[in-house]
Amino acid sequence: MKKTKLVSAADDTVNLQDFITANLHLVPVPSVPEISLYTAHPASGLSKLGNKDIYGDDHPPYWAYRWAGGTVLARHILDHQKMVAGRRLLDLGSGSGIVGIAAAKAGAKVVVSVDIDPHASIANRLNAAVNEAQVTVICQDILDNEPPETDIIAVGDLFYDANLAAKVTAYLDKCIAVGLTVIVGDPGRDYLPRERLQKLSKYPVPDFGDGKTSSTDESAVYFFKSKP
Ligand SMILES: C[S@@+](CC[C@H](N)C(=O)[O-])C[C@H]1O[C@@H](n2cnc3c(N)ncnc32)[C@H](O)[C@@H]1O
Repeated sequence: MKKTKLVSAADDTVNLQDFITANLHLVPVPSVPEISLYTAHPASGLSKLGNKDIYGDDHPPYWAYRWAGGTVLARHILDHQKMVAGRRLLDLGSGSGIVGIAAAKAGAKVVVSVDIDPHASIANRLNAAVNEAQVTVICQDILDNEPPETDIIAVGDLFYDANLAAKVTAYLDKCIAVGLTVIVGDPGRDYLPRERLQKLSKYPVPDFGDGKTSSTDESAVYFFKSKP
């Protein structure tokens, strides 16, 4: 199967960059203190940004919060650096960029972060820069494309919606068919394809989840396996 090339998109970043650096707190991630992220807090005023174009409602921006899936993947990658060292990794649905940043810190040769949210791309670039992580950030929906030029696909917390979960699963099937390694981090969201997963590790990490900051010991990292 032919692999598609990824092209980096240019963004009009200045205003949102200023907003993030002025209004969000740059704080270490609980459970992953090696990484600091620009993070929302009650006075950050994120509702001024609006997210209707991307999510169809006023959903709080994913990139400003810590999700258990990305957090557990980052923890696993930093604790098992050989898994990514010297290899290319694509962080699918990157949000804040935590997974790609962990991969870069662990010695990945090339890290590409992909998200459909242009605001996430800006936050991801800022977070990568403050963590001195070399990451190429792409704002694009690649799920209908052929598999990308990479070795590992990392999927942090993308199984919260039925349609998205089905599209992601179909995409991951194409990726493993050409020999890519797929790792998934997830706290057990409703549409997690459990029958396709092989557990690698489990950590108690904080979860923003459905609007609450809570701790879960269910969060785990898995290999995504081919259909039985
Ligand atoms: C729950 S957040 C997880 C973010 C990050 N992986 C983490 O764990 O912290 C889900 C992210 O997936 C992104 N997303 C949704 N649909 C997507 C798609 N088709 N392609 C790429 N990213 C997508 C959203 O914009 C959002 O940033």
